[in-house]
Amino acid sequence: MVGSANEADPATPAPVITIDGPAASGKGTVAARVARALGFHLLDSGALYRLVALKAIDAGIALDDAPRLVALAAALDVAFTAAGVALDGRDVTRAIRGEAIAEAASRVAVHPGVRSALLARQRAFCAPPGLVADGRDMGTVVFPQAGTKVFVTASPQARAERRRLQLAERGVVAAVDALLAEIHARDARDRSRAVAPLAPASDAVVLDTTDLTIDDAVAFVLARFAQRSA
Ligand code: DC
Repeated sequence: MVGSANEADPATPAPVITIDGPAASGKGTVAARVARALGFHLLDSGALYRLVALKAIDAGIALDDAPRLVALAAALDVAFTAAGVALDGRDVTRAIRGEAIAEAASRVAVHPGVRSALLARQRAFCAPPGLVADGRDMGTVVFPQAGTKVFVTASPQARAERRRLQLAERGVVAAVDALLAEIHARDARDRSRAVAPLAPASDAVVLDTTDLTIDDAVAFVLARFAQRSA
């Protein structure tokens, strides 16, 4: 179920759980685990911005060339599968995970036209039996009707250390200080942009995972969903 995008059926509203938060907060891991536990679809919205960034860089399009980025985002040929993500038929699962692409994604994401071009694509993931959506504006803009909204945070130090471990698992060695600086810069840009800035929805619960395990965070979201659906 995870990763597929079906057309939403307005007659059958599917439950939506939104998990927003800053970079390296662990929201992606938590969202994937919650989706698996419930058998729900999963939307990794950050992947879409990363794909736009990757394609723009490959095509030599400047990250401030809004008209060309919007056209590119609107025509993005992307397929999410259980195995990963393909762009124009090419497996880019690993290619979109680097820090340079994350930084570029944050830059393309400031353009309102790029965000609008990706909106319908994101909403199409909402289908029975339900959806877990992770990103920055899932609870505020893309799925404001979601019944369960969680905003995941963690101290910058904890997030930098988590990112370092994630990269180390992929054989990439990175210094915590450098990662901390990148995370700060990306969060500042994501928080301060004019459209759909990173912020908790007014009806979101904030979950600080600094001292929590992934299991704790997953259990919290599942309990919150069960409570809200009762
Ligand atoms: O979640 P992520 O780290 O893969 O996201 C990469 C960048 O994409 C993030 O720094 C900002 C942008 N993004 C966004 O603007 N809105 C989203 N819903 C998800 C990601």
